[in-house]
Amino acid sequence: MPVVVVVGAQWGDEGKGKVVDLYAQHADVVTRYGGGANAGHTLVVGGERIVLHLVPSGALHARTRCVIGQGVVVDPQVLLSELGVLRGRGLLDTPRVFMSDRAHVVLPHHRHIDELRERGRAAIGTTKRGIGPAYEDKAGRRGIRTGDLLDATRLAERVRDNLAAWEPVIRGLGGECPEVGPIVETLLAQGEALRDHITDASRMLTEAIGRGEKVLLEGAQGTMLDIDHGTYPYVTSSNVIAGGACAGAGIPPTAVDAVVGITKAYTTRVGGGPFPTELLGAEGEALREAGSEYGATTGRPRRCGWLDAAVVRFSARINGLRELALTKLDVLGGLQELRICTGYERDGIMFDEPPHDGLDRLVPVYETLPGWSGDLSACRRVEELPDNARRYVNRIAELTGCPVGVVSVGADREQTLRGGDPFAR
Ligand code: GDP
Ligand code: IMO
Ligand code: MG
Repeated sequence: MPVVVVVGAQWGDEGKGKVVDLYAQHADVVTRYGGGANAGHTLVVGGERIVLHLVPSGALHARTRCVIGQGVVVDPQVLLSELGVLRGRGLLDTPRVFMSDRAHVVLPHHRHIDELRERGRAAIGTTKRGIGPAYEDKAGRRGIRTGDLLDATRLAERVRDNLAAWEPVIRGLGGECPEVGPIVETLLAQGEALRDHITDASRMLTEAIGRGEKVLLEGAQGTMLDIDHGTYPYVTSSNVIAGGACAGAGIPPTAVDAVVGITKAYTTRVGGGPFPTELLGAEGEALREAGSEYGATTGRPRRCGWLDAAVVRFSARINGLRELALTKLDVLGGLQELRICTGYERDGIMFDEPPHDGLDRLVPVYETLPGWSGDLSACRRVEELPDNARRYVNRIAELTGCPVGVVSVGADREQTLRGGDPFAR
């Protein structure tokens, strides 16, 4: 089982960073295959916390190579500052962070456009990291790729054409159109600083797989934010599902052995869009405080609600999940009762997965389970969990048709039950 994909099974922030860091001790390579600095993946080791936006979550393991695939849109400024932090911790003494020469670059005006749009009627609550406009440029065949940052003449030409295309849009949104010169100068300097990291990542990965190395493919966002399969138009601008991993990393589909879905023991969502099990009012606030549910990238309060098994069931199907890794079970301690959404009803019709539209009118069908008291964060074996916590975990497996592997009871790498080697099965 040398190649394992890890995806978010909900709306993002499921704890992918924690689980990938945990799995990475068994991996030779960890690769991000999509998204950009909209992602915020939190790693906590020995009480010390680090949030990664672009560098894969294998970064804290000194022998693991980290690869940013061509499906990622890279903001060079964010990447350089992340590399600076890792270097400062003595974690980059050998060259081990690589980035595809074909990955597209998030340009300063992409962020500007994203921010301007978020002030208008079409706002969906993006992270304002320029992700949508960067992927628009990629699909529009006018994007700048990291490889372009190393060729001054080509870069100047491409930036000029790129800005010409965006100028009417920026003006229409009431923004300031930037000058070509300073953008090119900045990008060239960033390219120089990143030169040693830029490589043919697809080839590097396929060769590593050929040598029998263990490769972890780290998803960003969550299945319900996928551009094709999520709650469109309240989605991000890339394929975040496991199906996107091969295109985004540059490896053949036949190379993937298994997919693990990271699932929070309840549900959160940041930004706009339908959320059938959302708890508004005091209950939602209590969950937000108990789980410290504030965005790792933007600091925004996350919307909170009950676990939606129909969403996770859908994720299991679309991603081909072998198992779930269930995080934040500790957060639910002390509740009298817990609810799990098993499906939805709308106008007399039942749904066992989210339908393509009208999600805001779905009425969740709930099952109620007894809660448990006590702090789970010191548990290290499933047998140590209170009966009702174990019952809750087992019921999630039944309702989603997907066994639960890892159970996480705290942010720290150590606060994990059934950790194990994801490549061993
Ligand atoms: P990601 O985007 O999927 O990597 O998730 P985030 O890092 O954005 O959000 C998950 C948050 O939950 C982070 O603050 C983690 O440190 C924290 N976390 C992860 N697993 C657990 C857990 O089992 N219990 C608790 N209490 N916190 C956790
Ligand atoms: P991680 O990897 C949660 C959401 C935004 C918004 C929508 C589109 O940490 O799980 P974008 O900036 O991508 O154009 O915003 O997607 N979003 C995320 N929500 N976690 C993330 O990443 C997210 N990345 C994007 O809040 O609703
Ligand atoms: Mg996050």
